[in-house]
Amino acid sequence: MAVTVASAPAKIILFGEHAVVYGRPAIAVPISQVRAEAIVEDSLRSGIRLRAPNLGREYWLNEAPDGDPFARAVQSVLEFVTLPNLPDLTITVKSMIPIASGLGSGAAMAAAVIRSLALHLEITDLATDEQVSTLCYQVERLLHGTPSGIDNTVVAYERPVYFVRQQPTNRIDTFSVAAPLHLLVADTGEESKTWDVVGDVRRQWQENPKKFELLFDNCGRMANEARIAIQEGDPERVGRLMHENQGYLRAMTVSSEKLERLIAAADSSGALGAKLSGAGRGGNMIALVEEENEDEVRSSLLATGANSVLLSVLT
Ligand code: PMV
Repeated sequence: MAVTVASAPAKIILFGEHAVVYGRPAIAVPISQVRAEAIVEDSLRSGIRLRAPNLGREYWLNEAPDGDPFARAVQSVLEFVTLPNLPDLTITVKSMIPIASGLGSGAAMAAAVIRSLALHLEITDLATDEQVSTLCYQVERLLHGTPSGIDNTVVAYERPVYFVRQQPTNRIDTFSVAAPLHLLVADTGEESKTWDVVGDVRRQWQENPKKFELLFDNCGRMANEARIAIQEGDPERVGRLMHENQGYLRAMTVSSEKLERLIAAADSSGALGAKLSGAGRGGNMIALVEEENEDEVRSSLLATGANSVLLSVLT
């Protein structure tokens, strides 16, 4: 009985969250050591059985609730199947990525399911990074309303990406990192729904377009300058830009008390820069550190109430 496994990484947004929804550039990077995995197995029972043991869920595809993202990811691939009958399969998803914390858990889960199922059914055209990203975006739309497309892109390509949402096709540049960036990712433990925060930013932008357009422009400028600094191997400059980007996010009201406390803890223990990452109002913050002060910043984040801190070295 054939078994096919594929996985996708977590991600963080380094620069440009929210502004990216409004066409400004943003930078996102994968966190390869924290992943979602999907296992597709031929089955002797008829039908497609979906299993998510982490969530204690197991159900048949044809009985999945409307808008169920796991089922939608599976269906997005099955639409390309021209068989008279659907295959009999068991599809299991396992994820180490915390949900609702800005690490792209939904996108990674969808990407792993789409890639493993496309490979299992030998629809190899669908298993390319580009196609996985496109199908994953459709699933993301269910969860987030008007996603920019950056999450599905970074988890499908698993490379640092400079991303601009635009017509007719998004700009997706992968780029090199000249000097390793040591990033600590600290979880506030506060769950935040991307859909709600994005919707609230939209409401504020409609009420005060001038102010928000300027904030978005500034965030886009940060992303452009950061790309150059990363390519030139200048972590100090990247840190300063993170600090400035956080100021603009605060002005959009997407920070939170706990995020601010963790950012202040990182700053005062010697981080080069720190900011929230993702939608904000909870979720994760990131701190750029030097190898020498990594332990000190980590201890300070934990002492200030971070639920967990993980290190990701971007090379
Ligand atoms: O909370 P996350 O990590 O899913 O990130 C959302 C990023 C936003 O820019 C706020 C929204 C988007 O679709 O890009």
